[in-house]
Amino acid sequence: MKIIAANWKMNKTREDAHRFFGELAEKMKLQHRGQISNDKNVIICVPFTAIGIAREYADELGFTVGAQNFHPAKNGAYTGEISAEMLCEIGTRAVLVGHSERRTLFGETDDFVAQKVTGALTNGLTPILCVGEKDGEKLEAVLSKQLKSYQKGAIIAYEPVWAIGTGKVATIAQIEQAHALIKKLVAESNAGGLNPPEPPAVLYGGSVNEKNAAEILAAKNVDGVLVGGASLDADKFMTIITCV
Ligand code: 13P
Repeated sequence: MKIIAANWKMNKTREDAHRFFGELAEKMKLQHRGQISNDKNVIICVPFTAIGIAREYADELGFTVGAQNFHPAKNGAYTGEISAEMLCEIGTRAVLVGHSERRTLFGETDDFVAQKVTGALTNGLTPILCVGEKDGEKLEAVLSKQLKSYQKGAIIAYEPVWAIGTGKVATIAQIEQAHALIKKLVAESNAGGLNPPEPPAVLYGGSVNEKNAAEILAAKNVDGVLVGGASLDADKFMTIITCV
């Protein structure tokens, strides 16, 4: 089953979110009898303020509501933060962890990312662990380090930092190579806890759009996509959902 995940980042007020889901519902009615078919898993990671709106549409349309951040502590003196339990309470079922914007702009370390993976899993949230190299960095060295945060039950998103929001999408060969490497590194670490370990689902993210999604989703070792900019437009996102 392919996974189509969206990351709205810091975009859309509640009113905008209402409009987006209303448009998506209209398009679904016309094309899919109202429901995203059950042979794919659509996860939409919205800002905290839009989680309630997303929940109103999630069952009807058949998608999972995701968040973009939380703090791994159970509770306490962390002014401005939100816990995994609080996210679960309002119907969130997945959360992005280790996104390059959080690592770069908010100083999140691999150790903190690992705590978030544990915190999410403990509370029944599926972490989408984002990994990927910056321009000029060695792929295997970066992935080996970042994948230490992986635990069974997490989804992995390979997002080369140079491809995020730049329109520079990785080639199919680069994507297949990186995804194969991720699966190999996870298998070697036996983080799946099984022998042989259960392979993780690996999504590709970085300038995925309505034109390139079908080819990327058909590539070897690609279990889905994580879409930023193109997920903000109901028409484009609908095309991406329905191309598989
Ligand atoms: P873009 O699709 O806008 O490049 O963003 C990718 C991303 O960061 C998804 O998490």
